[in-house]
Amino acid sequence: MQQDGMDPSDWAEFRADAHRMLEAALDQLEQVRERPWRPVPDVVRESYTVRAEGGDVVDRITRDVLPYHGGNIHPRFWGWVQGTGLAADLISGMAGAAINANVGGRDHGAVYLERAVVDWTRARMGMPESASGVLTAGTSQATVIAFQAARVRVMADLRKRGQQGVRLTAYAGQGVHNATLKALELLGIGADNLRLVPLTDGQIDPAVLAAMLAEDRAAGARPFLLVGTAGTVDLGLFDDLNLLADLAQDEGLWLHVDGAFGAWTRIADDPWRSLSDGIGRADSIAVDFHKWMYVGYDAGLVLIRDEAAHRAAFAARPAYLQGADRGLAGGDPWYCDYGIDLSRGNRALKVWTALEMHGEAAFAASISENCRMAARMGDLVAATPGMALGAPVISNVCVFTARGSLEAQAQSALNSEIAETLQETGEAVFSTTRVDGVVMLRAAITNHRTRAADVEAAIEAVARMADRHEATRCVAAV
Ligand SMILES: Cc1ncc(COP(=O)(O)O)c(C=O)c1O
Repeated sequence: MQQDGMDPSDWAEFRADAHRMLEAALDQLEQVRERPWRPVPDVVRESYTVRAEGGDVVDRITRDVLPYHGGNIHPRFWGWVQGTGLAADLISGMAGAAINANVGGRDHGAVYLERAVVDWTRARMGMPESASGVLTAGTSQATVIAFQAARVRVMADLRKRGQQGVRLTAYAGQGVHNATLKALELLGIGADNLRLVPLTDGQIDPAVLAAMLAEDRAAGARPFLLVGTAGTVDLGLFDDLNLLADLAQDEGLWLHVDGAFGAWTRIADDPWRSLSDGIGRADSIAVDFHKWMYVGYDAGLVLIRDEAAHRAAFAARPAYLQGADRGLAGGDPWYCDYGIDLSRGNRALKVWTALEMHGEAAFAASISENCRMAARMGDLVAATPGMALGAPVISNVCVFTARGSLEAQAQSALNSEIAETLQETGEAVFSTTRVDGVVMLRAAITNHRTRAADVEAAIEAVARMADRHEATRCVAAV
C-alpha cells in the first residue's frame, strides 16, 4: 500500500483493497455451511510470522486466515459455549474502525451507545432504573468487577487498607463456572473461601447453605457473597433465583448471578423464560452478548443494582482525567469509573447494531429455537438404541453418551474419540464434559444457524460411529 505517513496516499487503491476484503468476508459468511473448522496445515502455520514488509495483505488474510477460524461460525458447532457472530458485525466492525472510539469516558457518541445497551439489558433483566452497568471482555471480567463491588460494600476502607486479615467467604452451587473461583483468587479472597454448596434437584440446597453459613460465622469468617447460576456450563441448570434472593436478604449477603448465557432466557418464550425468574432481584448480574446474543467477540456486561457501590469500588480520577461541565471532558458516567479498564473499545456499537438491524423479537425467537433444538437432540438421543442422556435437557444444553451400556472408561474413550473425529471431519462440533465420572458428549446450542436437520445429521453421525465401534469390538472378541 502506498502511504502518506500511516494513511493511504492512494485512496482509490485502498478502497479497492477494502472492497476485496469485504467481499471475502461476505463470501465467508454466505458460504459458512461449507466452511467448518479444519486444522491449520503446517505450511500455513509457518506462514504466520510478522513480516512487516507490505505486499498483498488482503490476499494473505483471505487465503491463510479466513479458512482457519475456530469453527464457531458453523451451523453444527455446539462445543463449549460459543456464539456464532452475526453478519451485522461486519457493518459495526467497519463503522467502529472508522471512529476508533475509546469508551473509557468523555462526551461522545459511543458512550451514549453503551448507556443505551446497558439500559436495554438492565430493563430486560428486570433491574431498577437506578442500576449501573459496564460492558466487559466477558463474564470472567464482569465477575471480578461484581465481586469487588460486593467486597467494598462490606469493607468500606478496603481500597485503602486492604482486607486486613478478615476472612471473607463466598457460596455457590457445585456446578458454578470456574470464573467465580478465578475472580476470588484474583481478588486475594482465596479459593478455599469459596464454599461449594451441594445441589438438590440441580439447585443450591438452601438447608445446606444455611448450615454452612452458620458454621463459617462460628469459625470467625465473614460471609459476604452468594453466587447463583442461570445456566451452568456443564448441564445448563438454573438455581431458583427467587429463593436465593430471599436467602441473601435474610443473611445479609450480596447476591451475584452468573448468567453468562442463561440470563438471556429472560427474552425467550416459556418454559425457558421462567428458568431465570427472580434474576432482577440480584445485586449483580454477569452476562455475555458474545454467547447467546450471537454478537461477535468480545462483549460481556456486568449490571450492579447499587450504582453507588459500583462507583465506590472503581472510581478514580487523577488530575489529568478530571471531568468538566462542558466540552469533550463532560458527561457522566465515565465507564472507567465502573470497571478495571481506563482505555476501552467500542463494544456497544456491535450490540446496538445487531439489535437495531434484527430487532429484539428475532433474538428472542432464535434463543427459544436453540432450546427447542436441544430438546430435539435430547429426544433423538433417548430414541436411539444404546445412547443415553447424562442429564435432562432443561435449556440449550444436551449432554449424552453414545453407548450407555459400556463400562465408564470405555464410554469415556468412545465419547472422546467421537468428539474428536467429528470435529476433524467437519461433520459437527461437540465438546465433552464429565458426568458421574464418565466423559460425555456435550452440545450447548448458542447458534442461530442451527436447524433441525443439523441436529439430526449430527446424532446420526454419532450413532454411526458408535455402531462401528461396537462392530469392531465384536470382531475383536471373536
Ligand atoms: C456459566 C458461565 N459463566 C462464565 C463463563 C465465562 O465467560 P467468559 O468466557 O465470557 O469470560 C462461561 C463461559 O462459558 C459460562 O458458561
